[in-house]
Amino acid sequence: MTTAPVPRRPRHRRHGLASSCRHRLCSRCLFLLLLLLCFVLQVAVALASSSGSGAGKVVSSLPGFDGPLPFHLETGYVEVDELNGVELFYYFVESESKSSGGGAGAKKDTPFLFWLTGGERCSVFSGLAFEIGPIRFVLEPYNGTLPRLQYNTNSWSKVSHILFVDSPVGAGFSYSREPKGYDVGDISSTWQLHDFLIKWFNDHPEYRENPFYIGGDSYAGKIAPFLGQMISEGIEAGKKTLPNLKGYLVGNPGTGETVDFNSRVPYAHGVGIISDQLYETILGNCQGQDYYNPSNALCAQAINTFNNLISEVQQAQILLDACVYASPVPNIDSKMDDSDGRKILREEIGVGRLNHPPAHPPFGCITYGYYLSYFWANDKRTREALGIKKGTVEEWVRCHDAGELPYAYDIKSSIKYHHNLTSRGYRALVYSGDHDLLVPHLGTQAWVRSLNFSIVDDWRAYHLGGQSAGFTISYSNNMTFATIKGGGHTAPEYEPERCFAMFSRWILNRPL
Ligand SMILES: *[C@@H]1O[C@H](CO)[C@@H](O)[C@H](O)[C@H]1NC(C)=O
Ligand SMILES: *[C@@H]1O[C@H](CO)[C@@H](O)[C@H](O)[C@H]1NC(C)=O
Ligand SMILES: *[C@@H]1O[C@H](CO)[C@@H](O)[C@H](O)[C@H]1NC(C)=O
Ligand SMILES: *[C@@H]1O[C@H](CO)[C@@H](O)[C@H](O)[C@H]1NC(C)=O
Repeated sequence: MTTAPVPRRPRHRRHGLASSCRHRLCSRCLFLLLLLLCFVLQVAVALASSSGSGAGKVVSSLPGFDGPLPFHLETGYVEVDELNGVELFYYFVESESKSSGGGAGAKKDTPFLFWLTGGERCSVFSGLAFEIGPIRFVLEPYNGTLPRLQYNTNSWSKVSHILFVDSPVGAGFSYSREPKGYDVGDISSTWQLHDFLIKWFNDHPEYRENPFYIGGDSYAGKIAPFLGQMISEGIEAGKKTLPNLKGYLVGNPGTGETVDFNSRVPYAHGVGIISDQLYETILGNCQGQDYYNPSNALCAQAINTFNNLISEVQQAQILLDACVYASPVPNIDSKMDDSDGRKILREEIGVGRLNHPPAHPPFGCITYGYYLSYFWANDKRTREALGIKKGTVEEWVRCHDAGELPYAYDIKSSIKYHHNLTSRGYRALVYSGDHDLLVPHLGTQAWVRSLNFSIVDDWRAYHLGGQSAGFTISYSNNMTFATIKGGGHTAPEYEPERCFAMFSRWILNRPL
């Protein structure tokens, strides 16, 4: 592996006392006495976890949701940097599948999904409430009353446990006591996720054997395979504290390579956003360049025209109205000018000013739910229900502004991790909402193909309700690529039924 190892920190173990009870003892009496003590301690630890003093808080109802939650939700914090007091906030949704049985008796074969959100500092709450989780906002005009929630029938928790984490620190409800703690990057924040998992599974050992998958979309396309690489190396080194990694999935994923962005040009051409002439001009003048950092004036000029044209559409789903974003606001033009192309993956940019509610999108706009989420998440009742620590995150925003907090883009490309993991038997699903202009399927198909594995299931449609739901191809490295017909950048947000069909088949080892 070529990544620089991050210095490890001494870790504090909450259950150190309980595990020391396993040591052999010389006297039988003492042994029995200690056995009893051990039992008492373990019960105490179990009680402490379930009552929420350390491991988490069981949330049986949520403000705005009518009645008790029809699924098991636990929230909590895990400390990942003791020096600076960094704690990552999580939402754990237990699988609703009948076979899982629920609780500590959960079946060992129920898949376990660890979900990361895209954007470098977007809250994973988007994954929970807009994409794959069991709740949705009731879309109705905000009038000052707490926004209402409803159940999502296409939740991926129907077939798997899902652990959502606000990462990197500064996203959502994750926080640092010391300002220095916010200074993270791709590599250090992934180490924190690795530490997070070890501690979380120490507190929830009943899930450690379940088939474990890492998932995420957009910017998580860089983090998920890198985290997978880290865990796989730990497993190979014999570490018993890690989850039972089986594979990962990434949606409209960034890789850090120019192909993610350059493919916007052929995509915009193919769907009729730019002319034949402009397409040819860009190909002629920008050959071999990173289209976001043109190195000659003719290319820069053509790209400028390109930017103006694509600003006419909603880039996360080109068929929808391009309306104002509510915390975050997509700032496409500044992203196009960005000297660091990787920032383009923050498909949306937060408002980020304290006590400033987000811009008000027209009701009916796809972003209206984001607007509602601001009022819901900042309500005192919500914070109490979720167990948010006082004085940590004064104002929750869905995504922070670019540059508001420091971040190092120190994974230049995640393709080697895709290659390495899938070469060693880990399964991968790479999917693309086919109406996304931010990370178009063309670029994703290109790098998947560049891994040079042979085709085992050639390009074909997969179906839902007798209609094609998208198209798929599988390679000999256990990597499946799939498009989602009509899907946008965060595909499950736009095509929940098709995405659920794709996910549930893949995660249960069935053909799409
Ligand atoms: C994958 O990474 C591991 C750990 O760094 C390394 O030992 C192995 O040679 C790599 N395998 C491949 C196929 O690249
Ligand atoms: C706001 O809208 C909700 C849902 O439509 C309604 O129940 C509530 O009475 C309204 N509140 C006010 C203050 O108008
Ligand atoms: C693909 O995944 C399946 C299921 O996990 C596994 O049994 C098989 O060995 C993998 N194949 C390869 C080529 O790694
Ligand atoms: C795939 O094949 C191409 C052409 O033969 C080669 O340039 C490239 O390095 C190969 N990629 C990998 C990951 O082996």
